[in-house]
Amino acid sequence: MQALLTEIAETAAAEADRGKVATYISELAGIDPGQFGIAVATADGRLFSAGDADVPFSIQSVSKVFALALALGRVGEQIWRRVGREPSGLSFDSVLLLERENGIPRNPFINAGALVATDTYLATSSPREALGQLLQFIRAAADDDGIHINETVAQSEISTAHRNFSLAHYLASFDNLHAPVDQVIGTYSHQCAVEMTCRQLAMAGRFLVDAPKMPGLVSVERRRRINALMMTCGHYDGSGDFAFRVGMPGKSGVGGGILVISPSRASIAVWSPGLNRYGNSKLGTEAMQTFSHRTGWSVFGVPHRGAER
Ligand code: DON
Repeated sequence: MQALLTEIAETAAAEADRGKVATYISELAGIDPGQFGIAVATADGRLFSAGDADVPFSIQSVSKVFALALALGRVGEQIWRRVGREPSGLSFDSVLLLERENGIPRNPFINAGALVATDTYLATSSPREALGQLLQFIRAAADDDGIHINETVAQSEISTAHRNFSLAHYLASFDNLHAPVDQVIGTYSHQCAVEMTCRQLAMAGRFLVDAPKMPGLVSVERRRRINALMMTCGHYDGSGDFAFRVGMPGKSGVGGGILVISPSRASIAVWSPGLNRYGNSKLGTEAMQTFSHRTGWSVFGVPHRGAER
């Protein structure tokens, strides 16, 4: 495993075409696209890493996995009255389907659906308490109390969150948002501004791995379902492509991080800030394609020796 990660990090370091760093959140625009990190937390309790695996980055939409787990913990299956479970085939911040589908977002991993999840865990608490609970969940999952929210990134996002405000107002107009729009956007933006290194994120994802040593923060049934949604909806309109190339549940963020789960083997975090045309990490996706091919960890089976990548 260590040799494979080292090789993948070396290949990534030499790559000339690294994708484009997100610029619509100004704090993210200045990040050096030359960085790449990867970490793997295995079911038997080991942690491997290579490259810039100790550099903190903004997890952005990867936080939607933790938000969904927290929201499910609050209201259980009732959340599915307010958000669907189908891929949208549209970009992460699209408003297109909301009107046609009466304010019920397609899934909890596009922005509209994530705003519903945030509204759900925010329901009976103040934003400060709600974010405290979210951090507590992530810290427990990662077994690391050092994980925090980057306030500068959160404020930078709020100042340009025009699309998210639109989505939230749309949801509110269909009675699918209960807290005030400002509070939901504020909480959601802070949630996205959680910072982690690849090593911390790989550790935090272990609650989605089915093995005795993993933190039991969600039920077996919930874990299976969150993984199913990551596979079908975790990369927006690039979800089909990620499943085709990697074959494991994954959730990406516009900060360039991807959390990938091998359901009974490991939690994997990869990070490189340059994005592909879907807004997912370019080198992260390519690295995961190589990783999946070499480990044979695709949930769809092991490739034949010499098979095309
Ligand atoms: O709401 C936003 O636009 C960002 N905080 C998160 C978007 C994101 O990470 C999309 N992922 N690829």
